[in-house]
Amino acid sequence: MKTGLYIHLPFCKQKCNYCDFASFAHREKLIPAYLGALEKEAERSALKAFQTLYVGGGTPSLLSASQLRRLCGSISSFFGSISSFEESTFEANPESLTPVKIQILQKNGFNRLSLGLQSFNDAELKILGRVHESSTFLKTYQAARAGGFENINVDLIAGLPGQTLESFLTSLQQVLALRPEHLSVYGLQIEKGTPFFERGVVCDQLLMRCMLEETHIRLQAAGYHHYEISNFALPGYEAKHNTHYWDNGEYIGLGSAAASYVGGVRKQNTPDMEKYIDCIQEGKDATVFSERLTGKAREGETLMLALRKLDGVELSARQEEFFGKEIERHLQNGLLEKDGKKVKLSFEGMFLANEVFRSFVAPFEEI
Ligand SMILES: C[S@@+](CC[C@H](N)C(=O)[O-])C[C@H]1O[C@@H](n2cnc3c(N)ncnc32)[C@H](O)[C@@H]1O
Ligand code: SF4
Repeated sequence: MKTGLYIHLPFCKQKCNYCDFASFAHREKLIPAYLGALEKEAERSALKAFQTLYVGGGTPSLLSASQLRRLCGSISSFFGSISSFEESTFEANPESLTPVKIQILQKNGFNRLSLGLQSFNDAELKILGRVHESSTFLKTYQAARAGGFENINVDLIAGLPGQTLESFLTSLQQVLALRPEHLSVYGLQIEKGTPFFERGVVCDQLLMRCMLEETHIRLQAAGYHHYEISNFALPGYEAKHNTHYWDNGEYIGLGSAAASYVGGVRKQNTPDMEKYIDCIQEGKDATVFSERLTGKAREGETLMLALRKLDGVELSARQEEFFGKEIERHLQNGLLEKDGKKVKLSFEGMFLANEVFRSFVAPFEEI
């Protein structure tokens, strides 16, 4: 059975106006202690052999060159050479991924890079509170290619405040011209507690839907496989680590806020970075949440994750038994459709997936 390893680096140069991820600005001084805690947690890890690795954040590229060497060395010593993973992704922000860091990542065997661009338009990047401009992204992207990365993902967000369909499509075209192997295109979510939420920013849902529909059409026409609600890949470049999540496979997460799923138990570490460091250094568990899903809840979760994959899912007998009525209802209302033996989100369902997923999460609706 395949397993994935996720390592969370919660440091950011500046907090973006839309982001509610467990990440913090101006805490770089804690990086050495945090790396020490990661090493201790790695030493105690219940699993040691993994097929995929994802170093995410936060902004992993904010680590200095020597801190990055230390991280790579620790991963190799606890879990084997990074080049032995089938897929090893490093998440980076354009302004902090220098040519020296690219070289370190390559030398240590990372074979996939994920770059957060969000928009090619500098005025939009400013509104988002991003530290970089589009020219910084271009320079970094080209340096990553020149440095040997043959599998690059670029993140974009649709539905930004003030964004027009035209400006979004211009960003999309500019990214497409670079021909990255993978693209993640998210619809903007206004999350509680973020500056966008506090300022009362609202997202024009209709306009965002137009942007996402156009993304689907244009990227498919350009040869990309729309394989998950927000993800597109050139054939053969579908993200293995994330696909493993959607297959409800087991994974270990190391670091503050990181989640693990092993033996049917889902756990999450405290998102408080200082608490995480203290707990681990004192030899304690940093878990703040733990649950074992069983029966209908577990089947529902598996089904919900599987339906994120747009090629669909062949229902098990238990899924039919628990959710047959709900699936029938969504086949009738056009959000799901049949494809041979599989059930999958329809074109409409892709944009209203949460309507469908609600049926598979407790408390269950009575039909
Ligand atoms: C873990 S996050 C950040 C990775 C990296 N630090 C960066 O900023 O590029 C991964 C991606 O989630 C997306 N994202 C984060 N918050 C979002 C939100 N509120 N709405 C839509 N997309 C969001 C962004 O595209 C971001 O690049
Ligand atoms: S989007 Fe990325 S860089 Fe911005 S605050 Fe979130 S994790 Fe940090």
